[in-house]
Amino acid sequence: MSDVAHAIDARRLGQAEHADSLRARNARIAVGATVIVKVRRSDDGRLQEFRTPYVKAMRVLDALNAIALKDAPDLAFRWFCGSKMCGTCAVRMNGREVLACWEAVEPEMTIEPLRNLPVIRDLVVDRTPYERKVASFEPWLTRDEPYPGFPEPLSHKAIKHASKALDCISCMSCYSACPVIRLGALTDFAGPAPLVQLGQTALDPRQDQRQVARALSRSGIFNCVSCYKCEEVCPAHIPIVSGVIEPLKAKAAQLVPQMARHPLAFRAVVARRGRIDPGELILRVQGLRVLAVVPRLLRLLLRGKINPLRTLLGCKTESAGAAARILNKAEQP
Ligand code: SF4
Ligand code: SF4
Ligand code: FES
Repeated sequence: MSDVAHAIDARRLGQAEHADSLRARNARIAVGATVIVKVRRSDDGRLQEFRTPYVKAMRVLDALNAIALKDAPDLAFRWFCGSKMCGTCAVRMNGREVLACWEAVEPEMTIEPLRNLPVIRDLVVDRTPYERKVASFEPWLTRDEPYPGFPEPLSHKAIKHASKALDCISCMSCYSACPVIRLGALTDFAGPAPLVQLGQTALDPRQDQRQVARALSRSGIFNCVSCYKCEEVCPAHIPIVSGVIEPLKAKAAQLVPQMARHPLAFRAVVARRGRIDPGELILRVQGLRVLAVVPRLLRLLLRGKINPLRTLLGCKTESAGAAARILNKAEQP
């Protein structure tokens, strides 16, 4: 890995390694060499194999265009700008979400449609679930205060998260990579791409906080498991988790506290005891509803996952005071 990759923090390693492979890939295919392209066709779900000659600086989109011109005029794929601006050309290449107009070809590659969205045909997916979710968030600016006139007194610090979210090109790569969206109707999670759209207004200090609360209550945001899969594939390098989802979670905890029952209980237990106590966590989250899950509690007890005695005695670790201080400090603006 290059020195550049070492200078990048751990959460960006996926992107850094990928950048290295792009350079290596461009250097190792000779002009005229055969590029093998297997494309997932929607009519029967099979991978159809094509061969096309490599041309200098060939992108995935160039290969698809060559195939459509020569071998498969019925191949469906979508693109408009050809320059990483419109976000319409995202596909999966060898299992990873990429922009076809920006990604260098591999000598042998499998091209498939994005996941987590219905396929209309071949590589074209239906963006309606995403657009409906974004529309439900009322994604426009409704000011708390009257417009003060130009230039508005906005500091970089106050607008920095919203401004990062504004780089989104709505390519849906993150949505395809998200394992929680893949769970389908098991959660009500809106997904990373709609949340980035929400962040454009909800993280703007001028936005009406009642509108932010309404949108967040429809987002299922606490289902995000902070796995960073979305960030790894974002072609706009948006810090989706640290710069958008985490600040939105903090806002949700403040504006719609009932949504944050579990994380707030988790925080309170760690601040009080210096460690997590699963028994106390269950009691805080479930309250009296815990009586309805007695068989499950017994199973947890038998497996040693909970210790009622420790929970009732309120045992603390030596680091309880330090944990409380750290958590309080982290919450200061
Ligand atoms: S960090 Fe959250 S939004 Fe991103 S892929 Fe993981 S679960 Fe999905
Ligand atoms: S956040 Fe990044 S990956 Fe997700 S839709 Fe926007 S540009 Fe694409
Ligand atoms: S064609 Fe517009 S981003 Fe690829």
